[in-house]
Amino acid sequence: MLPKILVVDDDRYTRTLIEQLMRKSAEVHLAADGETARRLFAAEDFNLVLMDQRLPKDKGLDLLREFRLDRPRLVAILITGFADVRDAVAAVREGLFDYLTKPFDDLEALEAVIGKALELDRAYREIADLRETLASQSGSPIMITHSAAMEKLLVQLRQAAPLDTTVLIEGESGTGKEVIAKLLHSLSSRTGGPMKELNCGALSESLIEAALFGYEKGAFTGAVKTTPGYFEEADNGTILLDEIADMSPKLQVSLLRVLQEGTFVRLGSTVQRPSNFRLLCATNKPLEQEVAAGRFRSDLYYRINVVPLRVPPLRERRDDILPLALFFLDHFKRKFSKATGPLQSDAIATLENAQWTGNVRELKHTIERAVVINAGGPITSADLGLASTATPGSTYSTAAPTPLLAYREARLRFERAYFSSLMQAADGNVSEASRISGVARQNIYGHLERAEIVTKQ
Ligand SMILES: Nc1ncnc2c1ncn2[C@@H]1O[C@H](COP(=O)(O)OP(=O)(O)OP(=O)(O)O)[C@@H](O)[C@H]1O
Ligand SMILES: [Mg+2]
Repeated sequence: MLPKILVVDDDRYTRTLIEQLMRKSAEVHLAADGETARRLFAAEDFNLVLMDQRLPKDKGLDLLREFRLDRPRLVAILITGFADVRDAVAAVREGLFDYLTKPFDDLEALEAVIGKALELDRAYREIADLRETLASQSGSPIMITHSAAMEKLLVQLRQAAPLDTTVLIEGESGTGKEVIAKLLHSLSSRTGGPMKELNCGALSESLIEAALFGYEKGAFTGAVKTTPGYFEEADNGTILLDEIADMSPKLQVSLLRVLQEGTFVRLGSTVQRPSNFRLLCATNKPLEQEVAAGRFRSDLYYRINVVPLRVPPLRERRDDILPLALFFLDHFKRKFSKATGPLQSDAIATLENAQWTGNVRELKHTIERAVVINAGGPITSADLGLASTATPGSTYSTAAPTPLLAYREARLRFERAYFSSLMQAADGNVSEASRISGVARQNIYGHLERAEIVTKQ
């Protein structure tokens, strides 16, 4: 189904232009005044509203505020004339998605902004759907997958889940390996059974051994009572061995034996017990390299690498960033009962361009921190506290190593970030912007144009 766009503008030329531009990819509805816009808005569920600021009887911004009372997540773009930068800045401050300056002469850029806004609406809706689904099937882990790379992984995951084979989940730290493991369990026939997790990187060899095999009373000092291990407790269930690369050589041998024979012996016992668990392994070190380096047994590697799943780092699936950010935003707003506003478009850009060496976990923490420090308005790029080369005044020494951009692109990014912050700080007032920045008043617009913050007249 095509997305629905409402274009409100008293200028027939603008209406027709947007309609022509978008009619292949959207269902475009047109209104020339506030009254018609109100009527249409009440009747349809629009994915995006493009609103002119100067209407015969209404101010576009007021009309959008009115619409937002009904639909707080409405995605909208304010269209302003050249002289209305101040209104536009107010719009951005309120967390409206973006603003565009008339006349539009770069149609590609116009289409791109509309495309981005529709994407944001889609993400909002997906998350709303997800929440409903979750409310009806609580217990299932939540996994946001929006990018093509993750969709592909999800297909492999759905195929692997019911097979009862060992799955090896590889991926950098924080990419969501544990989430994948939980999803595999919940989509398998063992979903009613227990799931046990053990981190081989965090525990000593003897603790891991005791946790997996269980022990008889008196098997070692401190074994005060007979205790079953995961091999028993996960009967008809799943065991996740996290950080499997860190497992000691001795334990690698013991695990291999259990997998080959389907039986195990508690520590301090001689009784062979049958095991019936499904094994999932996770690692953030490429296991093949560990094998090559002689640190991991190749026979165990072949045993556990029956179905490999590789979780790509976040920087290789940037389409996931926004949906994940919105999801976490929603999560932490509820958790802390805070009425945080939406993400401003500069914040979205910062998120989408960040390096995310800590992957999804880092994104989650970033949003959590932003919600905690937010004082009630929309979340700005500055609230994110990300070391970004695009933030004026950032210290390059503390920034994560970023691949170098072409000078032109780097400068454009810097200027875009600098001049949008400047115009916000100056409340859209050019003289004030000139005073703060030391850039001559008559040159400010030139900079705004070059940074593509306003469209050329
Ligand atoms: N696709 C996703 N959708 C929603 N939440 C996610 C997603 N991926 C990761 N998360 C969240 O991000 C955090 C990190 O994920 P997880 O613990 O699964 O990473 P990991 O790959 O196991 O990391 P590590 O290697 O450090 O153990 C968790 O809080 C998890 O809920
Ligand atoms: Mg993990």
